Amino acid sequence: MQEERITSSQVQSNEDNALDLSLRPKTLSEYIGQNKVKQNLEIFMLAAKKRAEPIEHVLLYGPPGLGKTTLAGVIANEMGVNIRVTSGPAIERAGDLAAILTNLEQGDILFIDEIHRLNKTIEEVLYPAMEDYALDLVVGKGPSARILKLDLPRFTLIGATTRISLLSSPLRDRFGAIYPLNFYEEDEIAKIVNRSASILSVGIDTSANTIIAQRARRTPRVANRLLKRVRDWADVKADGFVSEDVARAALEMLEVDELGLDQTDRKILSFIIEKFNGGPVGLNTLSAATSEEMATIEDIYEPFLMQLGFLERTPRGRCATRRAYEHLSYRHPDPAEGYSVNSNETLYPSTS
Ligand code: ADE
Repeated sequence: MQEERITSSQVQSNEDNALDLSLRPKTLSEYIGQNKVKQNLEIFMLAAKKRAEPIEHVLLYGPPGLGKTTLAGVIANEMGVNIRVTSGPAIERAGDLAAILTNLEQGDILFIDEIHRLNKTIEEVLYPAMEDYALDLVVGKGPSARILKLDLPRFTLIGATTRISLLSSPLRDRFGAIYPLNFYEEDEIAKIVNRSASILSVGIDTSANTIIAQRARRTPRVANRLLKRVRDWADVKADGFVSEDVARAALEMLEVDELGLDQTDRKILSFIIEKFNGGPVGLNTLSAATSEEMATIEDIYEPFLMQLGFLERTPRGRCATRRAYEHLSYRHPDPAEGYSVNSNETLYPSTS
């Protein structure tokens, strides 16, 4: 089991889930950021409404926590249809998918998170469902097996993935619109923190808001989580108001630094720097050294570290950049000089 991380962009505890639901925007106008996607979606939805048709299938991709599920909910709400939420790994048998699809109504949205994790057999059931709104089910076994053809309502599939490269091209080709979600700008995150604080009735000043926004890894899910943990600190250690001092003290206790790096980010970078002179290091070695799964490192940690310009993925492995050295207060090894590592986790020029 993965340890719970305050800066994780993965979905976590039930209590936070319930709160997150209340923080999720319901309409495009409430949704902050991702302006290009919003503009495109607006036209896409208006055109479908004008023709009185359901929208075509939509694929959303990007790092975790940027609002793919939220956006699917917004689309359903704006189109005035029901949404059924599931995920690739949750659909184990073709029958599971058939049960979901046959229960949809005309125009309904089926949201499949982590769609890259659908197994191949199920993907093949999905093709005719997406294209012809038909389900071909094999009933029975051996010589008596028959194909049962079922008509489906005209539904919309919204797929979400953190790894578009893992999607097969026949599946990708069946989406009418494919939108990338990118990391947010800091001022957008600040607006999201403001909005969430107001929904949660948390008193917060502008400087505290800025501090949270700066450390939220440009990710709304992280921003909302930091806000909630800072609020806890304010409730227990202060008078409930989130001032600049409160935000700083709470985030220091949570070991989230000024750029939003947590212990694991620092562990990954320090390991590459100390043990491999800045890299390259293979993903499996990093995984063994940090006790994090390879997929977690690839999907959760690396996108943000790369976004900061702290990590590079090269064909030979991962490398820490000069910026990473500077941020963690290591001296960058000049190629002309040899460096040795001491036990205080600091690099010194070799004197020999
Ligand atoms: N809460 C989480 N993501 C959001 C977003 N993009 N806009 C507004 N509130 C949010």
